[in-house]
Amino acid sequence: MAGTVTINDVGPRDGLQSQPKMLLPAERVRLVRSLLAAGLRHVEVGAFVSPRAVPAMAGAEEVLASLLPTPGVTLTVLVPNVKGYELALAAGAGSVCLVLYGSEGMAQANVRMRRAEAETAAVQILDRARADGVRVTATVAVAFECPYDGPVDPSLILDIAARFLELGADELCVADTIGAANPRQVRSLTRALVDRHGADRLACHFHDTRAMGLANIFAAIESGFRKFDASIAGLGGCPFAPGTSGNVATEDVVMMLEQMGFATGIDMARLLQAAELARDLTGTAPGGRAAAWLNRYYRSRAN
Ligand code: COA
Ligand code: ZN
Repeated sequence: MAGTVTINDVGPRDGLQSQPKMLLPAERVRLVRSLLAAGLRHVEVGAFVSPRAVPAMAGAEEVLASLLPTPGVTLTVLVPNVKGYELALAAGAGSVCLVLYGSEGMAQANVRMRRAEAETAAVQILDRARADGVRVTATVAVAFECPYDGPVDPSLILDIAARFLELGADELCVADTIGAANPRQVRSLTRALVDRHGADRLACHFHDTRAMGLANIFAAIESGFRKFDASIAGLGGCPFAPGTSGNVATEDVVMMLEQMGFATGIDMARLLQAAELARDLTGTAPGGRAAAWLNRYYRSRAN
């Protein structure tokens, strides 16, 4: 066995926020439950954001209320600012994802702040979360390339990562928000991160816009990363990053890792049921690139 890899399914948040069809909180809860039934132990279930900015995430408190408590499972919610953190805490969130930016353009588009202002807000959230006993993932958005400002200097990402790991973030997630990174860039940045910090608290988040999602995950695996975001049925796209497609599909990631000898703890047959539910609910989830093969293989084994 090559070891264990942890997958955090971000479909119910990243995946749903820009779908043409908006799901009701009860439908989002169904999707999360189907992921838990497949063995996922980390799911990003919503965001405490302005419902005017992201209408699809309205009712995140209802989603949490239906799901909590879930012993042994980390349900994370995204918080874009201090107000979002306060709302998440009031809703009983035990794990939050705060966002840092590799560019001015993306900070402006996402939260109408300067990059440094967003970082100051993130430090406030992290301090409060540590005092409140809330787990924190610090995600660095557009860590490779920004749709507004272009390529991002890796040294900036290394500085941000070092700062938030030193401040005590439970996890530092490097996000290719628009799916522009190539495996060589990923290998270089992830190696530098592992050399400085070890891999225990590091994670990656790749979109599959240019079909390099799995190759990028492989590059990060080779650097020692063992935690990845992925999205059921490849749902996704950021409403503030034009041209972005979904995250790399959870079923493709699980298939690749298991074939390579890693244990993910995920039951593929049930994961395919979750992917089918994601497609039924949204009507637009693309499904993983291996969907046809996976469905044929697992159906023939079930017969
Ligand atoms: N949750 C809910 N409401 C929020 C909020 C939050 N986290 N933060 C601010 N608001 C409300 C304010 O109370 C205010 O409401 P009001 O007009 O009824 O008084 C309104 O939103 C505008 O607040 P303001 O501080 O002027 O913010 P803004 O209009 O510049 O918008 C954000 C900033 C952060 C609220 C908004 O851009 C946002 O929610 N962005 C999230 C983007 C996102 O989720 N991207 C994808 C994930 S990375
Ligand atoms: Zn994303």
